[in-house]
Amino acid sequence: MSALLEVDQLEVNFGGRVSAVRGASVTVERGETHCLVGESGCGKSVTALAVMNLLARGARRSAKRLAFEGQDLTGLSDSGMAHLRGNAMAMIFQEPMTSLNPAYTVGSQMTEVLRRHKKTTQRAATDRAADLLARVGITAPGLRLGQFPHQLSGGLRQRVMIAMALMCDPKLLIADEPTTALDVTVQAQILRLLAGLQRDLGLGMLLITHDLGIVARVAHRVSVMYAGEVVESAPTAELFANPKHPYTRGLLRCVPVPGKIKRDEPLGSIPGTVPRIGPGFEGCAFRDRCDFADVTCAHAIPRHAASVAHDFLCRLPA
Ligand SMILES: Nc1ncnc2c1ncn2[C@@H]1O[C@H](COP(=O)(O)OP(=O)(O)OP(=O)(O)O)[C@@H](O)[C@H]1O
Ligand code: SF4
Ligand SMILES: [Mg+2]
Repeated sequence: MSALLEVDQLEVNFGGRVSAVRGASVTVERGETHCLVGESGCGKSVTALAVMNLLARGARRSAKRLAFEGQDLTGLSDSGMAHLRGNAMAMIFQEPMTSLNPAYTVGSQMTEVLRRHKKTTQRAATDRAADLLARVGITAPGLRLGQFPHQLSGGLRQRVMIAMALMCDPKLLIADEPTTALDVTVQAQILRLLAGLQRDLGLGMLLITHDLGIVARVAHRVSVMYAGEVVESAPTAELFANPKHPYTRGLLRCVPVPGKIKRDEPLGSIPGTVPRIGPGFEGCAFRDRCDFADVTCAHAIPRHAASVAHDFLCRLPA
């Protein structure tokens, strides 16, 4: 059976000047949580938006393969893609107000999603919305359905967003930093909720997060992005136990065991910043910050396999 989501050699350019994503490959299997990590500006959000075909105007997307359940997404019409979005594949953003409309009640927005995609009565849609609000831990769902987004706290809005994303029973959920706008205790609750839903509903999830504690706890696989490339990808335990790429090692600060990472443990900081890469760039984009860089790092870099399921992009041997 094909993977739930296959992204092979994705490229995204903005106006021919910024190569935001450069040959990135990411696969999400059914029922798997795949975490995407990397510093700010590495191309994580652009990758997620490219999958959903929600890139800003002027962006150019291409891929060797971009497929959902074996169905090619690059050849899909706008209406075909709109049908998939919010239906079989749904996305949760960092700031729920980007997706919630302040002018409509929670109930009308949630039922609208379902009625757009599935044949159903208003009554059944309202019942499902109330069930899902309860499922995401919202008390008095009937009351909340009649409220407007501004009447809810940030944490409640994010729960509503999650419930809304689940309205059509998606198989894939893409969550882009779903908790960074929230305070720390609420962040932990929301992430626990997402992890529980993923398990119970068997969702495939592409989760973008800076929180290594979360990665260690919920991810089955981790891909590390740097300057638009996936520089390392491995099953979670293997990545933490045996990081290969110097950038990954910097991010993890060589933390050896997932169980030893505390909640809210951020990515490690590495001196310097992520370069902005334009077309025609050659060699390793990390070379200005890498302790192991030598002249060969300015040329094409091989991708090595550290094991069957673990690969990395660096001249250093596996
Ligand atoms: N609309 C746009 N026009 C031009 N460049 C863009 C646009 N959107 C993103 N970029 C550029 O693409 C690169 C990747 O951005 P992206 O938002 O994917 O980073 P990110 O990894 O999600 O970072 P963060 O952790 O801060 O969310 C950055 O250099 C960014 O400036
Ligand atoms: S290719 Fe060279 S510069 Fe890049 S991470 Fe490996 S050793 Fe460092
Ligand atoms: Mg982002």
